[in-house]
Amino acid sequence: MKKILITGGAGYIGSHTAVELVKAGFLPIIIDDLSNSDIGVLDRLKEITGQELPFYKGNCGDKALLNQVSEDHQISGVIHFAAFKAVGESTEEPLKYYRNNVGGLISLLDFMQENNIRDIVFSSSCTVYGQPDTLPVTEDTPRKDAESPYGNTKKICEDILVDVVKSKVGLRVISLRYFNPVGAHESSKIGELPKGKPNNLVPFVTQTAAGIREKLTVFGGDYETPDGTCIRDYIHVVDLADAHLRAIQYLEGQTQDFYDVFNVGTGRGNTVLEVIQSFEKVSGKKLNYEIGPRRPGDVIKVWADTTKINDLLGWYPKKSLDDSMRDSWNWQKSL
Ligand code: WQD
Repeated sequence: MKKILITGGAGYIGSHTAVELVKAGFLPIIIDDLSNSDIGVLDRLKEITGQELPFYKGNCGDKALLNQVSEDHQISGVIHFAAFKAVGESTEEPLKYYRNNVGGLISLLDFMQENNIRDIVFSSSCTVYGQPDTLPVTEDTPRKDAESPYGNTKKICEDILVDVVKSKVGLRVISLRYFNPVGAHESSKIGELPKGKPNNLVPFVTQTAAGIREKLTVFGGDYETPDGTCIRDYIHVVDLADAHLRAIQYLEGQTQDFYDVFNVGTGRGNTVLEVIQSFEKVSGKKLNYEIGPRRPGDVIKVWADTTKINDLLGWYPKKSLDDSMRDSWNWQKSL
């Protein structure tokens, strides 16, 4: 059975990807420092998959830990999720983000070369596009200056991967640029577990509906969009997880020194108010919200052109915005 090392595998997208890998006959090996996830996720994964997934507590900067993984398991590929991802926090603590997100990748790549592991799927983000001049965004859309140190770490990591592939050490890489991951596994056993006050829209919506938050503030209602609120491409986390499976399988068929990058979104944009309307429809709950001031740094509208991943990886999103809202709400109610 092929073993895939998932860094950050106890996290939101990592745990959903572990489920899809098991379904496809892989054995995920999880390394996670639990800084933004919970050890209980491992038990949930066992309930969902029926398997005890090997787990190592720590991060990619811990060479001794990585070497222990390599002693215990023959790793055939890596999916690298582990990174800090709070845009606002990255502005306050940039060095924490560069050390962890960039330093962690460099340490992981050293480990891979030392252990002759050639395949890596990297978790990137549409944030590298900033506010695109044309929409939908294709992979050829020029990357913009990052809006935050977080976004800059994603651009830098993509550049590091390109340069290491060019150095002809045999590496094979796919970078996946996520749009906005939302939703949860249908079992409601795993989902998004934001620590403290959520930054992202959908956890704030579900926590407001659950009475944990008093009210949702919609950040800006006077943008140049159909209803004045920002537009994003909300991709169900299970569809996103499947894209990682397709990517690792695709790499197995490539020659060495391979690099490519794919957008992962639905190809559709939805406004904040449309998300709220979808949530109210599927939950039957009236959401308490108000239109407030714009959030500095927000991109007005961005959504993906997914032709490339459709054509080359044969990947298509299966779930709708309503599915995402339904699964998010069921997950919130299970907490
Ligand atoms: C979505 C929309 C907000 C909260 C960020 C990162 C990105 C990725 C996903 C990590 C925007 C509006 C939000 C609220 C609101 N992160 N909103 N009220 O900013 O598109 O992307 O998260 O990989 O890299 O940049 O996501 O969910 O914060 O915001 O009105 O309480 O919801 O203004 O229009 P964003 P988000």
